[in-house]
Amino acid sequence: MIEQRNPEHIAIIMDGNGRWAKERGLKRTAGHEEGAKAVREITKHCAKLGIKYLTLYAFSTENWSRPKLEVEYLMKLLDKYLKSELSTYLENGIRFKSIGDISKFSKPLQKTILDVEEKTKNGKNLTQVLALNYGSQDEILRAIKKLNEKNLEITKENFELCLDTAGIPNVDMLIRTSGEIRLSNYLLWQNAYAELFFTNTYWPEFSANDLDDLISDFNQRERRFGGI
Ligand code: IPE
Ligand code: IPE
Ligand code: MG
Repeated sequence: MIEQRNPEHIAIIMDGNGRWAKERGLKRTAGHEEGAKAVREITKHCAKLGIKYLTLYAFSTENWSRPKLEVEYLMKLLDKYLKSELSTYLENGIRFKSIGDISKFSKPLQKTILDVEEKTKNGKNLTQVLALNYGSQDEILRAIKKLNEKNLEITKENFELCLDTAGIPNVDMLIRTSGEIRLSNYLLWQNAYAELFFTNTYWPEFSANDLDDLISDFNQRERRFGGI
């Protein structure tokens, strides 16, 4: 019997909201709304399982290329979600943290993000990380600039301290929903030794049971990290 040892850090590329909606004759925005419910369910489930870090890709540096109305809708949904989730975070001992360059967001949205980070900073169970205007290449370039500004020696440790994910362990398990098999500029450094999982389920339908099944698969895999 392989010992059950849940992953410490799960990262998810939450994909397929638009296709989920389209297949039901709904607008893409309805898919995003339903996707937010899945975020709540999966986050609470991870807290219950004792997972320490859950990093969710919510808006990429490339997503600005979507129609203006969809981008605006996503920004509003994010603001609404964070405000309504505050009580869930506090009740479940969840700390919320963002990664990505939020300086490109509106001032009120930036304030909501920073407020919720501040109010949940003592959460001791799960850290829910939302990747917001996040792109791995952008993060790496910003990290190099920080290294330069601080005049730090170029070492793995110093570099990791300058990434948005400073202090967060590397990803153990990367999941992408909706059948797409690519990384889309997500946590390229941090996924160096992640186990990869691709499922055809669209994000709005991804359930706690689906996650349990993937974690069982994870627990069957042998991670060698270059050894034998
Ligand atoms: C993922 O779903 C959510 C975001 C990228 C914000 P999509 O909106 O990419 O849904 P599809 O891939 O078009 O179905
Ligand atoms: C990746 O999904 C970004 C998020 C889930 C936020 P996309 O739907 O934007 O990725 P591509 O364009 O299909 O690679
Ligand atoms: Mg997509």
